[in-house]
Amino acid sequence: MHTFLPVAYFKNEFVPFADANLSIATHALHYGTGAFGGLRGIPDPQHPGHALLFRLDRHAQRLSDSARFLQYDLPASKIAATIVEFVQKNQPGTSFYIRPFVYTSDLGIAPRLHNVEKDFFIYGLELGDYLSPEGVACRISSWYRQEDRSLPLRGKISGAYITSSMAKTEAVSAGFDEAILMNTQGKVCEASGMNIFMVRQGKLITPGFDQDILEGITRDSVLTVAQDLGIPVIERAIDKTELLIADEVFLSGTAAKVTPVRRIENYELSSDRPITTLLRDKLTAITEGRDPQYESWITRVAIA
Ligand SMILES: Cc1ncc(COP(=O)(O)O)c(C=O)c1O
Repeated sequence: MHTFLPVAYFKNEFVPFADANLSIATHALHYGTGAFGGLRGIPDPQHPGHALLFRLDRHAQRLSDSARFLQYDLPASKIAATIVEFVQKNQPGTSFYIRPFVYTSDLGIAPRLHNVEKDFFIYGLELGDYLSPEGVACRISSWYRQEDRSLPLRGKISGAYITSSMAKTEAVSAGFDEAILMNTQGKVCEASGMNIFMVRQGKLITPGFDQDILEGITRDSVLTVAQDLGIPVIERAIDKTELLIADEVFLSGTAAKVTPVRRIENYELSSDRPITTLLRDKLTAITEGRDPQYESWITRVAIA
C-alpha cells in the first residue's frame, strides 16, 4: 500500500487527502477522459528545508497539452504554480511522486468532450524505486501500443492505460518484471510506462517521435545528457531482433528513472553496462541538484 502525502489539491483548494473524493458518476471514470502527469521530487540533500522538483516546466507543459486534447484550457503556468504550492503544503520528508490529473468532472453519461465540466486535482505519494535498479526481465507483449490516428499519444490520456495495464499484467503473470510493446508497424515502441533505449557499438539508439511513443521527459533528459557527453545518439525505428542482441538495453521514465534490462524473453543481456551506468549516475546527480550544468532542470521549493 502506498503512503500518500497528507494534503491534496481538489476542487480549487487544499484539503486532507482523505477528503478528496469523487462521485461514482464522474464522467471521466466511465470514459477514460482524464489525463495525468507524474513528476518526482526529493528533499534537497544540500539545502535542508527545501525540496527539488525535476523538470517541472516540461511536466506542466505536457499536462497542459494533454488538457487541450480534452478541450480544457489549463495553462502550464497555473499547473506549475499549483504544484509548487502543493509541495509547500505537504513538506515531504522523503522522495515523492506527484500525480496531477485533469478530467471531465461532470456527473452523468454520454462520451464527449463538449458541454462537460473539467477539473484538475493533485495528490502525491512517497516513492522509492519503481523497478529494480539491478535490472529487469522483459517480455515482448502480445499487446501493441496504440496508434496516434486513434488516440492522442502525446498526451498521457488515462483511458489509454488499459493497454499498459494488460501488457504489464501479462508480463508479470508469466514471471517477468515488465513488458515491451511493439507498435502496429511491428517496431519496438516502449514499455508499460517507460521509453526504451538500446546501445549498439557505442551508439545510443531509441525509437523516434514517429514511432507512436509517449514523448517522455526522462527520454529527452537522457538524450540531452548523452549528447553533451559526446555519446552518438540516433532516433530511429528499432527491430525486435536488434534488442535481443543489443550491448545494453534500458528503460527510462519518471517512476523507473533509468532501469537496466537484464533479460528479454529468453535472451540474457550483458551485466556490463557502461553507458547505462554513466547516464544513470549523471541523471541521479542532476536530480539531486549536484550538477550545475543542468540547474535549469531543477526547481528548488522552500518547504520549511
Ligand atoms: C506510456 C509511457 N511511456 C513513457 C513514459 C515515460 O515518460 P516520462 O519520462 O515523461 O515519465 C511514461 C511515464 O510517464 C508512460 O506512461
